[in-house]
Amino acid sequence: MGKRTIVAMPGDGIGKVVLDETIRVLNAAGFVADYIEGDIGWEFWRKEGNPLPQRTLDLLAEHKIALFGAITSKPKDEAFEELAPELQSKGLVYSSPIVGLRQHFNLDICIRPCKTYVGNPLNFIRRGADGGVEEPEVDVVIFRQNTEGLYGGVEWSNPIAQVYDAFMTHPKFKQNFGKTPKEDVSISTRIFTKRATERILRAAFEHAKNYGYKSVTLCEKPNVIRETSGMMYKMALKMQANDYPNIELWNTNIDAQMMWLTKNPETYGVMVAGNMFGDILSDGFAGLIGGLGFACSAQMSEDGIAVFEPTHGSAPKYADYDTSIVNPIAMIESACMMLDYIDEKEIAVRIRKAVAEVISEGKTRTYDMMKVSGRADVIEKGSASTVEMAEAIIAKL
Ligand code: NAI
Ligand code: MG
Repeated sequence: MGKRTIVAMPGDGIGKVVLDETIRVLNAAGFVADYIEGDIGWEFWRKEGNPLPQRTLDLLAEHKIALFGAITSKPKDEAFEELAPELQSKGLVYSSPIVGLRQHFNLDICIRPCKTYVGNPLNFIRRGADGGVEEPEVDVVIFRQNTEGLYGGVEWSNPIAQVYDAFMTHPKFKQNFGKTPKEDVSISTRIFTKRATERILRAAFEHAKNYGYKSVTLCEKPNVIRETSGMMYKMALKMQANDYPNIELWNTNIDAQMMWLTKNPETYGVMVAGNMFGDILSDGFAGLIGGLGFACSAQMSEDGIAVFEPTHGSAPKYADYDTSIVNPIAMIESACMMLDYIDEKEIAVRIRKAVAEVISEGKTRTYDMMKVSGRADVIEKGSASTVEMAEAIIAKL
């Protein structure tokens, strides 16, 4: 394999610093690559009226693999006000470039691992039966369908007559909403297709098989959301019976699952869900292993385009500090997922081991790991900066 080209998309706010430090760690670990910067985010919305310029899409289409920091999104009206004056008459409407990226390249598989690092002061603890404190080890990988469902964008307020009339043919709509004036109705659809559902389920089962997890938990709500969750459940049952007889299929409801999260998180292995429930589930589990500073993710398409990013956003309140205080580990972990994906597993193992050593040693901790709020003076009070955390990891490589 020749030298890799990686599209590096810093985005907004803290996206840049966490990506810069991650590339430094990758270099230090001996990963040989060229990085081409891809423009994305608020700056490009303001200047060009497009937060996801075509040239960035072209770069990704060509090089296929990207690291992405984070973007800032703002409500429509605010977005309009910040647009360059000469663009304000062009009828442009802001939409999230990360959602745009997912849809453009059909990045339908989203993977979010949540794994405990020994010695992380942010690890979840609970009281055991004997009254003592237990620290369950979490090792969960969430497979979230990334393009459909409630985030599919098919929605209306005061729906056009054709749509409204179509809904009125549904007895439940007619009975429960038929007397409400049309102008007072908003509808967001939850569309699942067999093809995308099959792909996310398959990805989850394959991961369980390849990495030795004994169970796949489908986390939806088939008893109430009968058509979409119900279809997914039926397909999962069939897939398990036909192709994965040695892996157990568990079926949980999203609401109950959020309660069980803190009761027995160590019980779960691979989990799979639709778009919205997968998003909720992964934030829930991320909270048990250290929160946004530790939550990494991968998004991939059928034709080999893959984007690796922390799940946190651009944290604008910390973006302008002279010394950046945010935790780069979520971004570094996302880069490790990239290394796994492009078959540089040995480098990924080394980086993860270095991160684990820094955490268990406990000498270098960003403010979130010190459980203080993120003010500019946290460095004086002993927190590591973003750069210091990256350097501590590099020193262990
Ligand atoms: P956020 O994730 O940016 O920040 C929430 C809070 O989490 C921060 O104030 C900070 O306390 C903490 N945090 C986040 N990243 C951290 C890190 N690496 N280390 C330590 N602490 C960290 O979410 P928020 O404030 O809701 O949104 C800010 C902006 O980011 C918004 O414009 C939002 O639309 C955007 N956003 C973008 C995402 C993306 O690019 N994928 C995802 C989530 C939000
Ligand atoms: Mg989220």
